[in-house]
Amino acid sequence: MPIEEAVLVDAARAARRFAVAPYSHFAVGAALETADGVVVTGCNVENATYGLTVCAERIALFKALSEGHRAFKRVVVVAGTDNPTPPCGACRQLLWEFCGDVEVVLANETAVTARHGLAALFPYPFDGRLLGE
Ligand code: THU
Repeated sequence: MPIEEAVLVDAARAARRFAVAPYSHFAVGAALETADGVVVTGCNVENATYGLTVCAERIALFKALSEGHRAFKRVVVVAGTDNPTPPCGACRQLLWEFCGDVEVVLANETAVTARHGLAALFPYPFDGRLLGE
């Protein structure tokens, strides 16, 4: 059954409240919609070494993969900024590999600020096709 965008946005907002962001104070929440209508959320998790920080999108993606989900329709990213906060390059790479050209919905605590297809955000990917997969 299709999930209303507002439901996914609310799920990402709720996940954002769990962000572990004591260094950047930049809290992010994400919600992935699986092909069979399950919502899997994530928040960013920072670390004193900084470099081991994991973004909200990757946490949601790895949670979903680890629970057996393999096909995805949409991802919502919520940050506290007026301007849209798009996924970082590493997240785009992984979202492309596991989700393909999904819709990426960007929002803040009050509104949806942008919608893009992932192919538009990540137009010249390295992926399994180049490895002959
Ligand atoms: N961050 C995300 O979780 N997702 C994004 O799309 C952009 C950045 C996190 C990583 C770090 O914890 C903080 O935001 C500042 O970069």
